[in-house]
Amino acid sequence: MTTKTLILGQTLTFVDDPFKVPVAEAAMHESRGGVLIEDGLIAATGPADDLQRAHPDATVTDIGSRLLTAGFVDSHAHYPQTAIIASWGKRLVDWLNTYTFPEEARFRDAAYARETAGRYLDLTLMNGTTTVCSYCTIHPESVDAFFIEARKRGLRAVAGKTCMDQNAPDNLRDTAQSSHDDSKRLIERWHDVDRLGYAITPRFSPTSTPEQLEALGTLWAEHPECLMQTHLSEQTDEVAWALSLHSDARDYLDTYEMHGLLGKGALYGHAIHLNERERVRIAEAGASVVHCPTSNTFIGSGLLDLTGLAACGIRIALATDTGGGSSFSMLRTMAAAYEIAQLRGAALHPAQLYWLATAGSARAMRLDGKIGTLAPGLEADLIALDLASTAAIAQRANRAEDFWEALFPTIMMGDDRAVAQVWVAGRTTR
Ligand code: GUN
Ligand code: ZN
Repeated sequence: MTTKTLILGQTLTFVDDPFKVPVAEAAMHESRGGVLIEDGLIAATGPADDLQRAHPDATVTDIGSRLLTAGFVDSHAHYPQTAIIASWGKRLVDWLNTYTFPEEARFRDAAYARETAGRYLDLTLMNGTTTVCSYCTIHPESVDAFFIEARKRGLRAVAGKTCMDQNAPDNLRDTAQSSHDDSKRLIERWHDVDRLGYAITPRFSPTSTPEQLEALGTLWAEHPECLMQTHLSEQTDEVAWALSLHSDARDYLDTYEMHGLLGKGALYGHAIHLNERERVRIAEAGASVVHCPTSNTFIGSGLLDLTGLAACGIRIALATDTGGGSSFSMLRTMAAAYEIAQLRGAALHPAQLYWLATAGSARAMRLDGKIGTLAPGLEADLIALDLASTAAIAQRANRAEDFWEALFPTIMMGDDRAVAQVWVAGRTTR
């Protein structure tokens, strides 16, 4: 006999993209709703009374006035940078050389990689993030470590071996051939095992020769079921550097496109300084731009024109970019996205922010049939948010006249204290 769990509380569900249709058509809020869980999946959603009547045999968990939603989906992170988050005073290339590369070199040690992966996943779960798409290091052991720890927690997770064959320290370089072969072995070992997926991961054009990008483009053609993640146009001097190293390319995107690294399932982190051709090609290809707002301010990269990119038809996702990003929290990340959009003259609706952090990121990762909202058949990765988790938030939420006004203070001021409960595949984590 299967066990049925019925969680009752406020619920928030997305049925469409709030950048394309009005919020009232994209999002549904129930002030007393529920989700029925069976075998790790969402079996039914709807008004609490209806669900209770239809499923009298279900075990009820009543979360009261808390808000039940899908867990957050962080579509760009570097778990190996957990211990160097919030490192002071550098811009991208100096930050990589000073803080990131020395730390990533430590992941040759499988025990260190396991310990960090476990700590990282516990921190993200505390923050309500139930799926991440992470870079690892060049060491295959760092990928094994991440997937072992994610699997232990029952998580849906995506990751890949970061590939670099130039402009990196000797102990952090692979070759075109070895990056292809190691990545292929990791795909065979991990892709589609339980809830895990593989992302082919050239770090970015400055640290890959054309030969390596070609080898990874070939690998992607052999394994189109995988995602492909990389960095694109994060800082203006990085754009110039990438073009100087790949002089045949028309622009930064073309350094990837010419080697078969543009397509559906491509995730381009940052993508702040794009030209018109790049915008058009990303939209045409059905690829995604991953907005990393706390990173873009922390490392001083620039202000993404999110609404402009959305208007071009580009799929956009949201991410922490831990540890270039300064937080593990997708709430904090939504707040930063709001503030950056304000600096560009646009006020993002709370529904748009929340969609980016859940369904939008899931869609970019081609996981929208599995996670990202509350709908029958999706996996039951859920969170209960306390919309009055601090005195400051509570007193503001208290004044709210509608649901969005009650949610917005938690988006702007919330942190892990707002995340009251987390379910992974229907099982509560604490
Ligand atoms: N560009 C290349 N590598 C990185 C990285 O690790 N973090 C960020 N933010 N940008 C990058
Ligand atoms: Zn990154």
